[in-house]
Amino acid sequence: MLITNNRQPIGIFDSGLGGLSVVRAMTELLPNEDIVYFGDTGRVPYGTRSRQTIEQYTRQDIAFLQSKNVKLIIAACGTVSSVASHIGEACGLPFVGVVKPTAAAAVQATNNQKIGVIGTAATVASGSYSKEIARLDDTVQVFGQPCQLFVQMVEEGFIGENDPIALAVCERYLQPLKEQGVDTLILGCTHFPLLIPVIRKVMGEGVTLIDSGKATADYVADYLAGQNLLNESAGGQQSYFVSDRTEAFAQVAGRFLGREIPSVSQVVLE
Ligand code: DGL
Repeated sequence: MLITNNRQPIGIFDSGLGGLSVVRAMTELLPNEDIVYFGDTGRVPYGTRSRQTIEQYTRQDIAFLQSKNVKLIIAACGTVSSVASHIGEACGLPFVGVVKPTAAAAVQATNNQKIGVIGTAATVASGSYSKEIARLDDTVQVFGQPCQLFVQMVEEGFIGENDPIALAVCERYLQPLKEQGVDTLILGCTHFPLLIPVIRKVMGEGVTLIDSGKATADYVADYLAGQNLLNESAGGQQSYFVSDRTEAFAQVAGRFLGREIPSVSQVVLE
């Protein structure tokens, strides 16, 4: 493991905008931390691709963040965390994926032991959440539902609770989970918290939505505190990098984070 110090930034990556749900939660919880964000907007979505391709992209994303001298890397992507976390675990830096913290939060939240998992096709097919939940509590039933179109809806900004497209797609995907009577729903793709208002409208107030951004930020805060790696000086600098056009990213990112984001740079990954 490389030697890291508490003043170095945290590296966060995703295939696109979804990882901003982790950035938002991290900023609320740990405002002093500097963050370097990479969104692979030129190659989104990851969730429809093969394991080999997702592994290759993950290697490149991690190498980019390592070049920014980060102290810890967060795969703020359900797909990478489900399919390629072994790449992160072997990178020589502390590495956190979203599956473990999010599954733990869901197991804590359920009362009827029925948890739904929505994610990309790759995440649901990997069974990552079912396996992690079974490890924590084997009495819990898990119902998976791929919702791949949600990713494009978020990237396009079709996210309002009254947006007719968002509502119709949500109804179609979530109906089977409503029929199973889940009382807890894991938003197993980091893009999905941007759709919380419409998902809540469709699922009803009685279903607890587990946001992987929040669960992961809580986990990272505990981890950094335990390792004496929290940044105690006033930092809070954020830098954003993407692999395709920056305008659309900056627009939706600003809307989601509730503030203008500082400049976004386009980079070419090796
Ligand atoms: N945000 C991503 C995830 O959590 C990826 C969506 C995609 O690229 O398909 O899975």
